[in-house]
Amino acid sequence: MTEQPIFAAIDLGSTKVCAVVGQVLEEDMFEIVGIGTASTHHGIRNGTIVDVQQTVAAIRKAVDIAGRKASHPLTRVVVGFAGGEIEGQDQRVMIALKDREVLESDIARILQEARTMMGCSSSELLHTIPKGYRIDEQGGILNPVGMVGARLEAQVHVIRGSDMVLANLKRSVERAGLEVRDGDLVLQPLASARAVLTEDDKELGVCVVDIGGGTTGMVLFQNGALSGVRVVPLGGAAMTKDLAAVLRISQADAERIKREVFSTPGHAEPPLPEGEEIGTLSAEELTAAGRRVQVREVVEARLEEILRKVKTDLDRLRQGSFLARGVVLTGGVARMPNITSFAEKIFEMPVSVGHPGDRVQGLVDQTSGPEYASAVGLLYFARDQWVPSDVPVREAGPPSDSEPVASESPRKERDGPPAGVRLWNWLREII
Ligand SMILES: Nc1ncnc2c1ncn2[C@@H]1O[C@H](COP(=O)(O)OP(=O)(O)OP(=O)(O)O)[C@@H](O)[C@H]1O
Ligand SMILES: [Mg+2]
Repeated sequence: MTEQPIFAAIDLGSTKVCAVVGQVLEEDMFEIVGIGTASTHHGIRNGTIVDVQQTVAAIRKAVDIAGRKASHPLTRVVVGFAGGEIEGQDQRVMIALKDREVLESDIARILQEARTMMGCSSSELLHTIPKGYRIDEQGGILNPVGMVGARLEAQVHVIRGSDMVLANLKRSVERAGLEVRDGDLVLQPLASARAVLTEDDKELGVCVVDIGGGTTGMVLFQNGALSGVRVVPLGGAAMTKDLAAVLRISQADAERIKREVFSTPGHAEPPLPEGEEIGTLSAEELTAAGRRVQVREVVEARLEEILRKVKTDLDRLRQGSFLARGVVLTGGVARMPNITSFAEKIFEMPVSVGHPGDRVQGLVDQTSGPEYASAVGLLYFARDQWVPSDVPVREAGPPSDSEPVASESPRKERDGPPAGVRLWNWLREII
């Protein structure tokens, strides 16, 4: 048996906590050897922790499932989140070269200078991303190391969060027995983009929109570099709440109706996160409730509102420039059938759904859905950021799929054949 470096990440979503464990196969591929999801039970709202105990319990469950599958306990993790006030700003930094070669240490100096100019403390800092460099009169340089000139200028995008929000995130992960170091907190939409985009997409212009349960994250790339990031504190949970209010039923039941109505015929639904509530109404009661309104209209009205908000931000950021690769949707809401044609009308450009499945092997069935884009993308951040000598190792072997995994049991209950089939047929009649 050989020992292989192993990377682990936790995606703290508003609906589910997802722990994922992967090994690098080749330059841009991961083998997923463990994955576990657990319902956040409202411990995270709009991407922000509102109940530490619930969050810690969900992290523990997800980590336990993923660790058992990987036959490897998780220790250090990269953590993805999308909550609180996120602020991104461009900083312009210039250093004198005096006709010498640009060194790696110059880049480090530039990034440090950008952080200082933004005036943010290490506890608020999330990302310092170079957008492009200029040496003397030549602009559009993506990597200046090794080039010579008199003056090096850089445009750097600095993203910071609220130090209170970040401190609580770190604390919750640490209370679940894991280690998260400075620089290991990652903004979710950046991770989603990492999982589904190619360098070509970024060069030609593309916007990734991750519509999750409580947040919608947007990342824009133009000419191979990041142009901007936004997070809107709205997602699929708002659609469920609307439905629950209109139908006068619980949110768990509204979620059930929503997923039934917006399932893709012939496609398997993803397993429910461990511990997700499944509602109390019988199929007959749900159908009776569903008949009262057009479920589609309620859900799509909220979807339209979210997409219009994103479009306003996107138009402001791209300033009329053309995005040849259009918009790529990820997140659980991207599972809605026809979401691409719906979104194309709003964005007035091509829209597709991004699946992280092309970049992974191993437990592919469980990680290829658009809601796993951010979790898979986080593994790339771990690979790029962790110093090789610090990366945990695992004895290579096949992923353990033989263990019974708790997350699979609620699904059976929810999908109980007679009720599920009846409900589906009745709902199809009313939509
Ligand atoms: N078929 C479907 N149709 C409509 N919505 C769906 C479907 N499947 C899942 N969703 C919605 O996707 C949302 C969950 O998405 P996801 O797992 O990406 O969220 P999250 O990562 O937990 O949250 P966030 O990223 O906002 O913090 C839920 O609101 C769920 O109702
Ligand atoms: Mg998410």
